[in-house]
Amino acid sequence: MRIHRPLIAGNWKMHGLRGSAGELEKIIAGARKLPEVEMVICPPATLIMSFAATAFGSPITVGGQDCHAEAVGAFTGDISAEMLKDAGATAVIVGHSERRRYHGESDAVVQAKANAAFRAGLIAIVCVGETRAEREAGRALAVVGSQIEGSLPEGAGDFVVAYEPVWAIGTGLTPTPGDVAAMHHFIRERLESRYSESGQGVRILYGGSVKPTNARELLAVKNVDGALVGGASLVAEEFLKIASACR
Ligand code: PGA
Repeated sequence: MRIHRPLIAGNWKMHGLRGSAGELEKIIAGARKLPEVEMVICPPATLIMSFAATAFGSPITVGGQDCHAEAVGAFTGDISAEMLKDAGATAVIVGHSERRRYHGESDAVVQAKANAAFRAGLIAIVCVGETRAEREAGRALAVVGSQIEGSLPEGAGDFVVAYEPVWAIGTGLTPTPGDVAAMHHFIRERLESRYSESGQGVRILYGGSVKPTNARELLAVKNVDGALVGGASLVAEEFLKIASACR
């Protein structure tokens, strides 16, 4: 059952200044020719408002890269899901491995952020994925299973899961299509057992070194409903080539 279009999400990480608006405009122009694919760009927080204004009325939506679990409060430097929504975002990435690693975010923290996204009316893109050592020890499914258990939102709201093996992010390495198929099948089963029927409609993205050269192969795998793209999303032409590989 596929009730949504495939989703290609661009995670710009800590890249982008006001001058990057030209790249967004190119992405918007290309997206108009790909109505069968949903696309969201997640720029740094400083660009969300201006990007949302530029993208208004276009096929592109804008997302945040992280949010705080609380709506307001004494949390210097943090941004709430409500603030992202107010700035024009429609989605937010939570639990990216760089947040888990450099900011020590646990599954419980990620779940609280996913719940916050739901509360604010944002689509949470919840990231999970094993490290190289965990895969080599044969623990990839167990690790992702427990991340799924601990970090997905409590309610069956509108959220997306992104499977991103940590060792594939920014390295040029990717799992084999067979390994991706096994993991996405496993995640689908977990979603169905936890959220019953609505678990069938949750999109499961693959992320980690998705490029124009490997996108078609990865996106053709069963239960891969789109991609979370880092480096290649910074260049409109590459991002659009990846999106067009969904066809
Ligand atoms: P990458 O990053 O495409 O540059 O590997 C993916 C991500 O971290 O979301």
